[in-house]
Amino acid sequence: MDAYSALLPAPVKAEASTGYCLLSADAAVEADGSPLTGAMVRSFLAELLPLADNEIPVSTTRSVTVAVDDGAGEPGTYTLRVEPRRVEIRAGGSEGVAQALTTLRQLLPDTIWRRAATPPPEGWQVPCGTVEDRPAHGWRGAMLDVARHFFPKRTVLRYVDLLAAHRFNRLHLHLSDDQGWRVESRLHPELHRVGSWRPSTRLGPDGPDDGTPHGGYYTLDDLAEIAAHARTRGITLVPEIDVPGHTSALRAALPGLGRPGEEQAVLDTVWAGGTSIAPLGRTEAVLRDVLGEIIDATGAPYVHLGGDECAMDWWPEDPEVAAAMAEAGCTTPQQMHGHFLRSLGEFLAGRGVRMVVWDEGYVTGGVLPDTIVMAWRGDEAAGRAATTHDIVRSPLFPTYFNFDQSELAGERRSEGGPVTLDDVSAFAPAPSHWSPQQRERILGGQFQIWTEWVPDERHLDYLAFPRACALAEVLWTGRVADPDEFRTRLARQLRRLDAMGAEYRPLDGPHPWQTGGTGVWRRTSPGRIAETRAWLDSISHQA
Ligand code: ACM
Repeated sequence: MDAYSALLPAPVKAEASTGYCLLSADAAVEADGSPLTGAMVRSFLAELLPLADNEIPVSTTRSVTVAVDDGAGEPGTYTLRVEPRRVEIRAGGSEGVAQALTTLRQLLPDTIWRRAATPPPEGWQVPCGTVEDRPAHGWRGAMLDVARHFFPKRTVLRYVDLLAAHRFNRLHLHLSDDQGWRVESRLHPELHRVGSWRPSTRLGPDGPDDGTPHGGYYTLDDLAEIAAHARTRGITLVPEIDVPGHTSALRAALPGLGRPGEEQAVLDTVWAGGTSIAPLGRTEAVLRDVLGEIIDATGAPYVHLGGDECAMDWWPEDPEVAAAMAEAGCTTPQQMHGHFLRSLGEFLAGRGVRMVVWDEGYVTGGVLPDTIVMAWRGDEAAGRAATTHDIVRSPLFPTYFNFDQSELAGERRSEGGPVTLDDVSAFAPAPSHWSPQQRERILGGQFQIWTEWVPDERHLDYLAFPRACALAEVLWTGRVADPDEFRTRLARQLRRLDAMGAEYRPLDGPHPWQTGGTGVWRRTSPGRIAETRAWLDSISHQA
Protein backbone atom coordinates (compact mmCIF):
# COMPACT_ATOMS: atom_id res chain seq x y z
CA MET A 1 0.00 0.00 0.00
CA ASP A 2 1.50 3.38 -0.93
CA ALA A 3 1.63 6.02 1.77
CA TYR A 4 -1.14 8.02 0.14
CA SER A 5 -3.51 5.04 0.39
CA ALA A 6 -2.76 4.48 4.07
CA LEU A 7 -4.16 7.71 5.46
CA LEU A 8 -6.79 7.47 8.19
CA PRO A 9 -9.32 9.07 7.98
CA ALA A 10 -9.30 8.72 4.21
CA PRO A 11 -8.83 12.00 2.35
CA VAL A 12 -11.20 13.23 -0.33
CA LYS A 13 -8.45 12.93 -2.94
CA ALA A 14 -4.88 11.72 -2.69
CA GLU A 15 -2.43 10.97 -5.47
CA ALA A 16 1.12 9.72 -5.16
CA SER A 17 3.65 10.90 -7.71
CA THR A 18 7.27 9.93 -8.20
CA GLY A 19 10.22 10.81 -6.01
CA TYR A 20 10.40 12.00 -2.47
CA CYS A 21 11.19 15.03 -0.38
CA LEU A 22 13.97 14.77 2.21
CA LEU A 23 12.52 16.66 5.12
CA SER A 24 14.44 17.70 8.18
CA ALA A 25 14.25 20.11 11.05
CA ASP A 26 16.28 22.71 9.18
CA ALA A 27 13.88 23.11 6.25
CA ALA A 28 13.11 26.74 5.48
CA VAL A 29 9.62 27.90 6.40
CA GLU A 30 7.64 30.38 4.32
CA ALA A 31 4.66 31.25 6.45
CA ASP A 32 1.86 33.35 5.05
CA GLY A 33 -0.76 33.74 7.72
CA SER A 34 -1.10 33.88 11.46
CA PRO A 35 1.87 33.54 13.81
CA LEU A 36 0.14 30.41 15.17
CA THR A 37 0.22 28.48 11.91
CA GLY A 38 3.86 29.43 11.25
CA ALA A 39 4.70 28.22 14.76
CA MET A 40 2.76 24.99 14.18
CA VAL A 41 4.88 24.22 11.12
CA ARG A 42 8.15 25.08 12.89
CA SER A 43 7.17 22.94 15.84
CA PHE A 44 6.31 20.04 13.52
CA LEU A 45 9.72 20.34 11.89
CA ALA A 46 11.46 20.49 15.27
CA GLU A 47 9.90 17.14 16.08
CA LEU A 48 11.79 15.67 13.12
CA LEU A 49 15.02 16.13 15.06
CA PRO A 50 16.78 12.86 15.78
CA LEU A 51 17.61 11.62 19.22
CA ALA A 52 21.20 12.78 19.38
CA ASP A 53 22.83 15.92 18.01
CA ASN A 54 25.46 13.94 16.18
CA GLU A 55 22.74 12.11 14.27
CA ILE A 56 21.47 15.22 12.53
CA PRO A 57 21.97 14.38 8.88
CA VAL A 58 24.39 16.69 7.13
CA SER A 59 22.00 18.62 5.11
CA THR A 60 21.46 17.91 1.55
CA THR A 61 18.07 19.11 2.68
CA ARG A 62 18.69 22.77 3.45
CA SER A 63 17.17 23.75 0.19
CA VAL A 64 13.79 22.24 1.14
CA THR A 65 11.07 24.78 1.82
CA VAL A 66 7.82 24.26 3.67
CA ALA A 67 5.33 26.91 2.56
CA VAL A 68 2.14 27.47 4.47
CA ASP A 69 -0.82 29.65 3.55
CA ASP A 70 -3.63 29.47 6.12
CA GLY A 71 -6.08 31.72 4.29
CA ALA A 72 -7.26 29.18 1.75
CA GLY A 73 -10.72 27.80 2.35
CA GLU A 74 -13.07 26.73 5.12
CA PRO A 75 -11.76 25.69 8.57
CA GLY A 76 -10.28 22.22 8.37
CA THR A 77 -9.85 22.09 4.60
CA TYR A 78 -6.37 21.77 3.15
CA THR A 79 -4.27 20.96 0.14
CA LEU A 80 -0.89 19.37 0.73
CA ARG A 81 1.58 19.16 -2.12
CA VAL A 82 4.86 17.32 -1.61
CA GLU A 83 7.54 17.92 -4.23
CA PRO A 84 11.24 16.98 -4.05
CA ARG A 85 12.30 20.39 -2.70
CA ARG A 86 9.07 21.92 -1.55
CA VAL A 87 6.16 21.05 0.69
CA GLU A 88 3.17 23.30 0.19
CA ILE A 89 0.25 23.63 2.56
CA ARG A 90 -2.75 25.69 1.58
CA ALA A 91 -5.33 25.45 4.31
CA GLY A 92 -8.37 26.94 6.02
CA GLY A 93 -7.07 28.49 9.26
CA SER A 94 -5.09 26.77 11.98
CA GLU A 95 -7.51 23.83 11.88
CA GLY A 96 -6.69 23.22 8.22
CA VAL A 97 -2.95 23.54 8.86
CA ALA A 98 -3.28 21.04 11.72
CA GLN A 99 -4.96 18.59 9.33
CA ALA A 100 -2.26 19.05 6.70
CA LEU A 101 0.44 18.38 9.31
CA THR A 102 -1.38 15.25 10.48
CA THR A 103 -1.39 14.04 6.89
CA LEU A 104 2.31 14.88 6.47
CA ARG A 105 3.07 12.90 9.61
CA GLN A 106 1.01 9.93 8.40
CA LEU A 107 3.02 9.98 5.15
CA LEU A 108 6.23 9.46 7.15
CA PRO A 109 7.33 6.13 8.70
CA ASP A 110 5.27 5.11 11.75
CA THR A 111 8.17 5.75 14.09
CA ILE A 112 7.62 9.49 13.60
CA TRP A 113 4.68 9.17 16.02
CA ARG A 114 7.13 8.64 18.87
CA ARG A 115 8.09 11.68 20.95
CA ALA A 116 11.56 11.37 19.50
CA ALA A 117 12.72 9.14 16.71
CA THR A 118 15.96 8.50 14.89
CA PRO A 119 15.56 9.12 11.19
CA PRO A 120 16.63 6.50 8.69
CA PRO A 121 20.26 7.05 7.52
CA GLU A 122 19.06 8.72 4.35
CA GLY A 123 16.87 11.13 6.38
CA TRP A 124 13.09 11.44 6.59
CA GLN A 125 11.62 10.74 3.19
CA VAL A 126 8.14 11.98 2.38
CA PRO A 127 6.88 10.43 -0.84
CA CYS A 128 5.81 13.04 -3.35
CA GLY A 129 2.16 13.50 -4.10
CA THR A 130 -0.89 15.67 -3.52
CA VAL A 131 -3.77 15.54 -1.07
CA GLU A 132 -6.90 17.65 -1.42
CA ASP A 133 -9.09 17.24 1.58
CA ARG A 134 -12.01 18.63 3.54
CA PRO A 135 -14.13 17.31 6.40
CA ALA A 136 -17.65 16.00 5.86
CA HIS A 137 -18.52 17.35 9.33
CA GLY A 138 -17.24 20.45 11.07
CA TRP A 139 -17.73 19.11 14.63
CA ARG A 140 -15.70 15.97 15.30
CA GLY A 141 -15.63 15.65 19.02
CA ALA A 142 -14.63 13.59 22.02
CA MET A 143 -16.24 14.02 25.41
CA LEU A 144 -14.21 13.02 28.43
CA ASP A 145 -15.87 12.83 31.85
CA VAL A 146 -13.18 13.99 34.26
CA ALA A 147 -15.70 14.27 37.11
CA ARG A 148 -16.47 10.62 37.94
CA HIS A 149 -12.77 9.91 37.85
CA PHE A 150 -10.22 12.68 37.60
CA PHE A 151 -7.67 12.50 34.82
CA PRO A 152 -4.59 14.63 35.43
CA LYS A 153 -3.60 17.39 33.06
CA ARG A 154 -0.82 15.31 31.52
CA THR A 155 -3.37 12.66 30.50
CA VAL A 156 -5.60 15.26 28.89
CA LEU A 157 -2.69 16.83 26.99
CA ARG A 158 -1.72 13.41 25.68
CA TYR A 159 -5.35 12.65 24.85
CA VAL A 160 -5.41 15.83 22.74
CA ASP A 161 -2.46 14.47 20.72
CA LEU A 162 -4.23 11.15 20.21
CA LEU A 163 -7.41 12.92 19.09
CA ALA A 164 -5.52 15.23 16.73
CA ALA A 165 -3.93 12.18 15.12
CA HIS A 166 -7.49 11.22 14.09
CA ARG A 167 -8.58 14.71 12.97
CA PHE A 168 -10.95 15.23 15.91
CA ASN A 169 -11.39 18.96 16.45
CA ARG A 170 -13.40 19.29 19.69
CA LEU A 171 -12.42 18.20 23.20
CA HIS A 172 -15.50 18.37 25.40
CA LEU A 173 -14.47 18.18 29.06
CA HIS A 174 -17.28 17.27 31.46
CA LEU A 175 -15.88 19.28 34.36
CA SER A 176 -18.55 18.85 37.01
CA ASP A 177 -20.91 16.19 38.23
CA ASP A 178 -22.25 14.62 41.39
CA GLN A 179 -18.92 12.89 41.97
CA GLY A 180 -16.56 15.84 41.59
CA TRP A 181 -15.97 19.47 40.67
CA ARG A 182 -12.83 19.68 38.57
CA VAL A 183 -11.91 23.30 37.99
CA GLU A 184 -10.45 26.00 40.20
CA SER A 185 -12.63 28.99 41.03
CA ARG A 186 -10.75 31.96 42.40
CA LEU A 187 -14.05 33.68 43.16
CA HIS A 188 -15.60 30.67 44.94
CA PRO A 189 -12.63 28.56 46.11
CA GLU A 190 -14.88 26.22 48.14
CA LEU A 191 -15.82 24.70 44.80
CA HIS A 192 -12.39 23.22 44.17
CA ARG A 193 -11.41 22.86 47.82
CA VAL A 194 -14.50 20.91 48.87
CA GLY A 195 -16.05 19.74 45.61
CA SER A 196 -12.96 18.22 44.01
CA TRP A 197 -12.63 15.11 46.15
CA ARG A 198 -14.61 12.33 47.80
CA PRO A 199 -13.52 10.08 50.65
CA SER A 200 -14.35 6.83 48.89
CA THR A 201 -15.45 5.28 45.61
CA ARG A 202 -17.95 2.52 44.90
CA LEU A 203 -17.87 0.51 41.72
CA GLY A 204 -21.49 0.66 40.73
CA PRO A 205 -24.57 1.40 42.82
CA ASP A 206 -24.21 -1.68 45.05
CA GLY A 207 -20.43 -1.88 45.25
CA PRO A 208 -18.67 -1.59 48.62
CA ASP A 209 -16.86 1.61 49.58
CA ASP A 210 -13.19 1.24 48.81
CA GLY A 211 -12.23 3.73 51.55
CA THR A 212 -9.72 5.43 49.27
CA PRO A 213 -10.04 9.18 48.77
CA HIS A 214 -10.22 10.24 45.13
CA GLY A 215 -9.94 13.73 43.71
CA GLY A 216 -8.21 16.41 41.73
CA TYR A 217 -8.97 19.52 39.75
CA TYR A 218 -7.48 21.71 37.04
CA THR A 219 -6.33 25.17 37.98
CA LEU A 220 -7.52 27.88 35.62
CA ASP A 221 -3.93 28.01 34.35
CA ASP A 222 -4.07 24.26 33.67
CA LEU A 223 -7.29 24.71 31.74
CA ALA A 224 -5.76 27.59 29.78
CA GLU A 225 -2.80 25.34 28.96
CA ILE A 226 -5.07 22.53 27.79
CA ALA A 227 -7.02 24.95 25.57
CA ALA A 228 -3.84 26.41 24.11
CA HIS A 229 -2.25 23.02 23.50
CA ALA A 230 -5.46 21.84 21.84
CA ARG A 231 -5.52 24.95 19.63
CA THR A 232 -2.06 24.15 18.27
CA ARG A 233 -3.46 20.75 17.27
CA GLY A 234 -6.57 22.16 15.56
CA ILE A 235 -8.80 21.29 18.51
CA THR A 236 -11.24 23.57 20.33
CA LEU A 237 -11.87 22.97 24.02
CA VAL A 238 -15.57 22.79 24.97
CA PRO A 239 -15.86 23.03 28.77
CA GLU A 240 -19.02 21.72 30.45
CA ILE A 241 -20.43 22.78 33.79
CA ASP A 242 -23.46 20.52 34.18
CA VAL A 243 -26.48 22.23 35.77
CA PRO A 244 -29.02 22.21 37.33
CA GLY A 245 -28.89 18.42 37.95
CA HIS A 246 -25.71 16.39 38.50
CA THR A 247 -24.62 19.01 41.03
CA SER A 248 -23.89 17.14 44.30
CA ALA A 249 -20.25 18.29 44.28
CA LEU A 250 -21.29 21.90 43.72
CA ARG A 251 -23.85 21.66 46.53
CA ALA A 252 -21.34 20.02 48.88
CA ALA A 253 -19.13 23.07 48.34
CA LEU A 254 -21.93 25.65 48.50
CA PRO A 255 -24.75 23.99 50.48
CA GLY A 256 -26.81 27.17 50.41
CA LEU A 257 -27.49 26.57 46.74
CA GLY A 258 -29.17 23.21 47.36
CA ARG A 259 -32.43 22.06 48.84
CA PRO A 260 -32.76 23.38 52.37
CA GLY A 261 -32.38 20.67 54.99
CA GLU A 262 -30.91 18.12 52.61
CA GLU A 263 -27.51 16.63 53.40
CA GLN A 264 -25.00 17.73 50.78
CA ALA A 265 -21.96 15.59 49.94
CA VAL A 266 -19.80 14.71 46.96
CA LEU A 267 -21.14 11.35 45.84
CA ASP A 268 -19.20 8.17 45.26
CA THR A 269 -19.54 6.66 41.79
CA VAL A 270 -23.28 6.01 41.71
CA TRP A 271 -24.35 7.84 38.58
CA ALA A 272 -27.31 10.21 38.21
CA GLY A 273 -27.45 10.63 41.95
CA GLY A 274 -28.42 13.52 44.14
CA THR A 275 -30.97 16.15 43.33
CA SER A 276 -30.44 19.59 41.89
CA ILE A 277 -29.44 23.12 42.70
CA ALA A 278 -32.09 25.73 43.45
CA PRO A 279 -32.72 27.76 40.28
CA LEU A 280 -32.40 31.09 42.03
CA GLY A 281 -30.75 34.40 41.24
CA ARG A 282 -27.95 33.78 43.76
CA THR A 283 -27.23 30.38 42.19
CA GLU A 284 -27.04 31.99 38.78
CA ALA A 285 -24.71 34.67 40.13
CA VAL A 286 -22.24 32.01 41.30
CA LEU A 287 -22.47 30.19 37.99
CA ARG A 288 -21.92 33.39 36.03
CA ASP A 289 -18.77 33.98 38.08
CA VAL A 290 -17.50 30.49 37.42
CA LEU A 291 -18.38 30.45 33.72
CA GLY A 292 -16.74 33.86 33.34
CA GLU A 293 -13.54 32.55 34.94
CA ILE A 294 -13.51 29.56 32.59
CA ILE A 295 -14.17 31.70 29.51
CA ASP A 296 -11.45 34.17 30.52
CA ALA A 297 -8.95 31.32 31.00
CA THR A 298 -9.71 29.35 27.87
CA GLY A 299 -11.26 31.68 25.31
CA ALA A 300 -13.76 28.89 24.69
CA PRO A 301 -16.23 29.78 21.91
CA TYR A 302 -18.66 27.09 23.14
CA VAL A 303 -19.67 26.25 26.69
CA HIS A 304 -21.82 23.24 27.56
CA LEU A 305 -24.36 23.79 30.34
CA GLY A 306 -25.48 20.17 30.68
CA GLY A 307 -29.16 20.22 31.56
CA ASP A 308 -29.52 16.40 31.64
CA GLU A 309 -31.22 14.12 34.18
CA CYS A 310 -32.33 16.81 36.59
CA ALA A 311 -34.41 15.80 39.63
CA MET A 312 -36.46 18.96 40.11
CA ASP A 313 -39.75 17.79 41.65
CA TRP A 314 -38.89 19.59 44.88
CA TRP A 315 -38.73 23.05 43.29
CA PRO A 316 -42.43 24.02 43.57
CA GLU A 317 -42.49 22.77 47.19
CA ASP A 318 -39.73 25.12 48.27
CA PRO A 319 -41.06 28.61 49.09
CA GLU A 320 -38.01 30.47 47.76
CA VAL A 321 -37.93 28.52 44.48
CA ALA A 322 -41.71 28.73 44.16
CA ALA A 323 -41.45 32.52 44.44
CA ALA A 324 -38.71 32.58 41.79
CA MET A 325 -40.87 30.43 39.55
CA ALA A 326 -43.81 32.78 39.94
CA GLU A 327 -41.63 35.76 39.17
CA ALA A 328 -40.32 34.05 36.03
CA GLY A 329 -43.87 33.13 34.99
CA CYS A 330 -43.15 29.40 35.23
CA THR A 331 -45.89 27.04 36.41
CA THR A 332 -43.94 23.77 36.17
CA PRO A 333 -40.42 22.78 37.22
CA GLN A 334 -39.75 21.86 33.59
CA GLN A 335 -40.49 25.42 32.50
CA MET A 336 -38.21 26.68 35.25
CA HIS A 337 -35.46 24.31 34.08
CA GLY A 338 -35.76 25.87 30.62
CA HIS A 339 -35.83 29.40 32.02
CA PHE A 340 -32.73 28.76 34.14
CA LEU A 341 -30.69 27.37 31.23
CA ARG A 342 -31.80 30.14 28.87
CA SER A 343 -30.83 32.76 31.37
CA LEU A 344 -27.31 31.31 31.70
CA GLY A 345 -27.20 30.97 27.92
CA GLU A 346 -27.92 34.69 27.60
CA PHE A 347 -25.00 35.41 29.91
CA LEU A 348 -22.79 33.27 27.64
CA ALA A 349 -24.12 35.03 24.56
CA GLY A 350 -23.15 38.35 26.17
CA ARG A 351 -19.60 37.00 26.31
CA GLY A 352 -19.75 35.92 22.65
CA VAL A 353 -20.01 32.27 23.64
CA ARG A 354 -22.41 29.75 22.13
CA MET A 355 -24.33 27.53 24.51
CA VAL A 356 -24.53 23.73 24.22
CA VAL A 357 -27.00 21.46 26.07
CA TRP A 358 -27.96 17.79 26.32
CA ASP A 359 -31.35 17.00 24.82
CA GLU A 360 -33.29 17.45 28.10
CA GLY A 361 -32.49 21.16 27.73
CA TYR A 362 -34.24 21.11 24.37
CA VAL A 363 -37.28 19.35 25.84
CA THR A 364 -37.74 22.06 28.50
CA GLY A 365 -37.09 24.94 26.11
CA GLY A 366 -33.75 25.67 27.75
CA VAL A 367 -32.28 26.83 24.45
CA LEU A 368 -31.62 30.05 22.55
CA PRO A 369 -32.00 30.11 18.76
CA ASP A 370 -28.29 29.34 18.20
CA THR A 371 -27.93 26.74 20.99
CA ILE A 372 -26.32 23.46 19.95
CA VAL A 373 -28.18 20.36 21.13
CA MET A 374 -26.45 17.07 21.89
CA ALA A 375 -29.07 14.34 21.94
CA TRP A 376 -27.81 11.34 23.87
CA ARG A 377 -31.19 9.59 24.02
CA GLY A 378 -31.35 8.29 20.47
CA ASP A 379 -32.10 9.30 16.90
CA GLU A 380 -35.66 10.40 17.53
CA ALA A 381 -34.65 12.93 20.19
CA ALA A 382 -31.96 14.23 17.84
CA GLY A 383 -34.39 14.40 14.93
CA ARG A 384 -36.83 16.50 16.96
CA ALA A 385 -34.10 18.95 17.97
CA ALA A 386 -32.84 19.12 14.38
CA THR A 387 -36.17 20.55 13.24
CA THR A 388 -35.24 23.85 14.91
CA HIS A 389 -31.64 23.72 16.18
CA ASP A 390 -28.12 22.78 15.22
CA ILE A 391 -27.24 19.41 16.67
CA VAL A 392 -24.16 17.36 17.39
CA ARG A 393 -24.82 13.64 17.12
CA SER A 394 -23.96 11.95 20.42
CA PRO A 395 -26.40 9.03 20.81
CA LEU A 396 -25.64 6.51 23.54
CA PHE A 397 -25.62 3.86 20.81
CA PRO A 398 -23.05 3.84 19.26
CA THR A 399 -21.12 6.83 20.65
CA TYR A 400 -20.89 5.94 24.37
CA PHE A 401 -17.49 4.28 24.35
CA ASN A 402 -17.65 3.51 28.06
CA PHE A 403 -19.79 0.52 27.08
CA ASP A 404 -18.30 -2.95 26.42
CA GLN A 405 -16.65 -3.48 23.07
CA SER A 406 -17.92 -7.05 22.62
CA GLU A 407 -19.83 -9.87 24.33
CA LEU A 408 -16.56 -11.61 25.29
CA ALA A 409 -16.60 -12.55 28.98
CA GLY A 410 -13.12 -11.07 29.29
CA GLU A 411 -14.16 -7.49 28.58
CA ARG A 412 -13.72 -5.50 31.75
CA ARG A 413 -16.80 -4.67 33.78
CA SER A 414 -18.67 -1.60 32.53
CA GLU A 415 -22.20 -0.32 32.25
CA GLY A 416 -23.31 -2.73 29.55
CA GLY A 417 -23.27 -2.68 25.82
CA PRO A 418 -21.89 -3.84 23.60
CA VAL A 419 -20.96 -0.98 21.32
CA THR A 420 -18.66 -2.71 18.87
CA LEU A 421 -16.15 -1.37 16.39
CA ASP A 422 -18.50 -2.49 13.60
CA ASP A 423 -21.41 -0.63 15.25
CA VAL A 424 -19.34 2.54 15.21
CA SER A 425 -18.20 1.94 11.61
CA ALA A 426 -21.84 1.58 10.57
CA PHE A 427 -22.94 4.79 12.32
CA ALA A 428 -24.75 7.19 10.00
CA PRO A 429 -24.78 10.72 11.46
CA ALA A 430 -27.84 11.46 9.29
CA PRO A 431 -30.51 8.76 9.52
CA SER A 432 -31.86 8.01 6.04
CA HIS A 433 -35.42 9.15 6.80
CA TRP A 434 -34.40 12.65 7.93
CA SER A 435 -35.47 15.60 5.80
CA PRO A 436 -32.88 17.80 4.04
CA GLN A 437 -33.65 20.52 6.62
CA GLN A 438 -32.88 18.17 9.50
CA ARG A 439 -29.68 17.00 7.80
CA GLU A 440 -28.50 20.56 7.36
CA ARG A 441 -28.68 21.01 11.12
CA ILE A 442 -26.11 18.28 11.80
CA LEU A 443 -22.85 19.97 12.74
CA GLY A 444 -21.18 16.62 13.29
CA GLY A 445 -20.84 14.12 16.08
CA GLN A 446 -18.73 12.99 18.98
CA PHE A 447 -17.95 10.00 21.17
CA GLN A 448 -18.31 10.09 24.93
CA ILE A 449 -16.39 8.32 27.68
CA TRP A 450 -18.20 8.50 31.01
CA THR A 451 -15.83 7.37 33.69
CA GLU A 452 -17.78 5.81 36.57
CA TRP A 453 -16.00 2.57 35.60
CA VAL A 454 -12.85 4.11 34.16
CA PRO A 455 -10.32 4.73 36.90
CA ASP A 456 -7.23 5.50 34.86
CA GLU A 457 -5.58 6.40 31.59
CA ARG A 458 -4.79 2.82 30.61
CA HIS A 459 -8.47 1.92 30.73
CA LEU A 460 -9.32 5.12 28.88
CA ASP A 461 -7.00 4.14 26.00
CA TYR A 462 -8.56 0.69 25.92
CA LEU A 463 -12.08 2.10 25.63
CA ALA A 464 -11.28 4.89 23.19
CA PHE A 465 -9.28 2.98 20.61
CA PRO A 466 -9.84 1.57 18.06
CA ARG A 467 -13.48 2.70 18.20
CA ALA A 468 -12.40 6.35 17.92
CA CYS A 469 -10.50 5.45 14.72
CA ALA A 470 -13.80 4.32 13.17
CA LEU A 471 -15.74 7.37 14.35
CA ALA A 472 -12.95 9.59 13.01
CA GLU A 473 -13.44 7.99 9.59
CA VAL A 474 -17.23 8.45 9.79
CA LEU A 475 -17.03 12.10 10.80
CA TRP A 476 -14.26 13.10 8.40
CA THR A 477 -15.45 11.22 5.32
CA GLY A 478 -19.19 10.90 6.07
CA ARG A 479 -19.16 7.10 6.43
CA VAL A 480 -16.99 4.01 6.40
CA ALA A 481 -17.41 3.37 2.69
CA ASP A 482 -15.76 -0.05 2.49
CA PRO A 483 -15.33 -1.90 5.82
CA ASP A 484 -12.65 -4.28 4.47
CA GLU A 485 -10.58 -1.49 3.01
CA PHE A 486 -11.04 0.48 6.26
CA ARG A 487 -9.68 -2.48 8.26
CA THR A 488 -6.50 -2.44 6.14
CA ARG A 489 -5.90 1.21 6.95
CA LEU A 490 -6.91 0.61 10.57
CA ALA A 491 -4.17 -2.02 10.92
CA ARG A 492 -1.69 0.68 9.88
CA GLN A 493 -3.24 3.22 12.25
CA LEU A 494 -2.81 0.77 15.13
CA ARG A 495 0.93 0.73 14.40
CA ARG A 496 0.91 4.53 14.66
CA LEU A 497 -0.94 4.17 17.98
CA ASP A 498 1.71 1.65 19.11
CA ALA A 499 4.36 4.27 18.39
CA MET A 500 2.37 6.82 20.42
CA GLY A 501 2.14 4.37 23.32
CA ALA A 502 -1.65 4.12 23.21
CA GLU A 503 -2.96 0.97 24.89
CA TYR A 504 -5.84 0.28 22.54
CA ARG A 505 -7.94 -2.87 22.58
CA PRO A 506 -6.54 -5.33 20.03
CA LEU A 507 -9.05 -6.20 17.30
CA ASP A 508 -9.35 -9.83 18.42
CA GLY A 509 -10.00 -9.07 22.08
CA PRO A 510 -8.36 -7.60 25.17
CA HIS A 511 -4.84 -8.37 26.29
CA PRO A 512 -4.90 -10.53 29.46
CA TRP A 513 -4.07 -7.44 31.52
CA GLN A 514 -6.98 -5.58 29.97
CA THR A 515 -9.57 -8.18 30.98
CA GLY A 516 -11.64 -8.01 34.14
CA GLY A 517 -9.96 -11.05 35.72
CA THR A 518 -11.79 -12.68 38.62
CA GLY A 519 -11.98 -9.74 41.03
CA VAL A 520 -14.12 -6.61 41.20
CA TRP A 521 -13.54 -5.84 37.51
CA ARG A 522 -15.03 -9.15 36.33
CA ARG A 523 -17.86 -8.64 33.88
CA THR A 524 -20.93 -9.88 35.71
CA SER A 525 -23.83 -9.47 33.34
CA PRO A 526 -24.41 -9.84 29.62
CA GLY A 527 -24.85 -6.71 27.54
CA ARG A 528 -28.38 -5.40 27.17
CA ILE A 529 -27.89 -2.76 24.53
CA ALA A 530 -31.26 -3.42 22.86
CA GLU A 531 -33.04 -2.92 26.21
CA THR A 532 -31.00 0.18 26.93
CA ARG A 533 -31.92 1.66 23.56
CA ALA A 534 -35.62 0.89 24.03
CA TRP A 535 -35.55 2.49 27.48
CA LEU A 536 -33.89 5.62 26.10
CA ASP A 537 -36.49 5.93 23.35
CA SER A 538 -39.22 5.59 25.97
CA ILE A 539 -37.90 8.49 28.07
CA SER A 540 -36.66 10.75 25.31
CA HIS A 541 -39.74 13.01 25.41
CA GLN A 542 -39.21 13.68 29.13
CA ALA A 543 -37.12 16.34 30.78
C1 ACM B 1 -26.05 11.77 29.78
O1 ACM B 1 -25.66 10.65 29.45
N1 ACM B 1 -26.74 11.93 30.91
C2 ACM B 1 -25.82 12.95 28.96
